[in-house]
Amino acid sequence: MQRSPIRKRKRTLPRSLSAKLLLLTIVVVMATEVFIFMPSVANYRLTWLARHFNTGEAASLSLEKLDPELVPPDMPQQLLSLTQTQAIIVRRDGASRILATSAMPEEIEDHVMLEAPGRAAAVRSMVDALDTLINGGDRIIRVYGPMQERPGELELVMKDEPLRAAMLSYAGNVLLISLALSFFTGLVVFLVLRWFLIRPLQRMSDAMLAFARDPEDASNVIEPSGRDDEIGVTEEQLSKMQVQLRGTFTQQKALANLGLAVSKINHDMRNILASASLFSDRLSSAEDPLVKRLAPRLVRSIDRAADYTKQVLDYGKAGEAVPRKVLLRPHRLCRDVGETLALDGEGDDAIEWVNAVPPDLEINADPDQLFRVLLNLCRNAIKAMEGMDAASVRRLMVMANRDGDTVLIEVSDTGPGIPEDIAEHLFTAFKTSDRKGGTGLGLAIAAELVRVHDGSIDLLRDGQPGTTFCIRLPAT
Ligand SMILES: Nc1ncnc2c1ncn2[C@@H]1O[C@H](COP(=O)(O)OP(=O)(O)OP(=O)(O)O)[C@@H](O)[C@H]1O
Ligand SMILES: [Mg+2]
Repeated sequence: MQRSPIRKRKRTLPRSLSAKLLLLTIVVVMATEVFIFMPSVANYRLTWLARHFNTGEAASLSLEKLDPELVPPDMPQQLLSLTQTQAIIVRRDGASRILATSAMPEEIEDHVMLEAPGRAAAVRSMVDALDTLINGGDRIIRVYGPMQERPGELELVMKDEPLRAAMLSYAGNVLLISLALSFFTGLVVFLVLRWFLIRPLQRMSDAMLAFARDPEDASNVIEPSGRDDEIGVTEEQLSKMQVQLRGTFTQQKALANLGLAVSKINHDMRNILASASLFSDRLSSAEDPLVKRLAPRLVRSIDRAADYTKQVLDYGKAGEAVPRKVLLRPHRLCRDVGETLALDGEGDDAIEWVNAVPPDLEINADPDQLFRVLLNLCRNAIKAMEGMDAASVRRLMVMANRDGDTVLIEVSDTGPGIPEDIAEHLFTAFKTSDRKGGTGLGLAIAAELVRVHDGSIDLLRDGQPGTTFCIRLPAT
């Protein structure tokens, strides 16, 4: 049977950050305890030896002072058992005197000199303590050093078994206290870190997971705790990012839905427009002069609409409308826009339409796309001026001029102007429409069409009443 190439990783360490932190804290505290444990055991050993040495010195004093004839026979033995030694020897002026002995051992395995404390002595004492704990127990040792009260040196010969037993009992106690201490310290450090670090991190990671699952749900956006440290800043940034992402997601979803709806409508609209084009063609042969005059415009408009439906489908596939540039006169395009929007100046309340584009000005651009840009801007202007008082001036004007390699086109109206609050996102789809029946797409489309021409579109803010949009396009 073939083995799966994906191997599961062995999980030897705990996965959660809290568990790792707890383990690490305990290990670090225990490691620190070792540095306390060894010196304290070594110190205990020296204290134990010094205590026995002092007792031995007191015993040697009584034995030396008494007349040997008067020493009770069992006294040396008693003193030996009191000091837990096998022999007490005094060395003075180059001569040794055995004051008390049970059975003098044949071999002495270790010599311990009680010396003044120092750094080297401290290190040596730790090595010796470790040696006693590991190797000791049935060894005979010789403890020697200068006497405190009298001149000369005292020497004690003893088994190291009682010393090792006392050290083991002491070490056991120290170990227990160290364990309790490291557990307690570990717990406190762990709880503090958990409260200040792990908990907020966990909260952020939960918020991110919940947000990834359902970005539409506003309750999944993290609420910053208001802390003024790095965690607080991260929470704040995360919250801002989630809000932004939610906005983009909603916008994308609206765009996707719209795209789907447009595709469906387009599909059927193409057929309807094809038959409308056929009918309007036949209208041209009618006798009525008005019909004769309007029929070609109608045919042009319908053809244009049919072309759009095709372009929308192409756009859906390619994702970008590539301009098909030709040398054209914007004056004529403007005239077409005016005709399409029925800006013929007829009627009392008609909007004044001024096509101030020089008739001989030429530009290299896609006629359909430029037409759509101007149509969107002019339609917005008309909509804005529709509700205005009959006495007020209602004028829509398009101007253009060439400035070096750039053609500047200005579309201005005498309407109410663009509200400050929507001006910032004017060219972003679905963000601006406060108009009933508007989708908020027109300016976004216009901006994109200008962009694919390597041009720019801006709202002119010159303090004048009304609205002016300025388009800059490369002339060639
Ligand atoms: N000339 C203007 N005067 C006043 N307000 C304007 C003008 N042009 C645009 N606006 C404001 O900008 C908003 C966005 O315009 P845009 O063309 O993007 O969308 P829309 O006209 O609302 O909808 P759509 O064009 O998709 O049908 C409008 O709703 C309107 O409030
Ligand atoms: Mg519009």
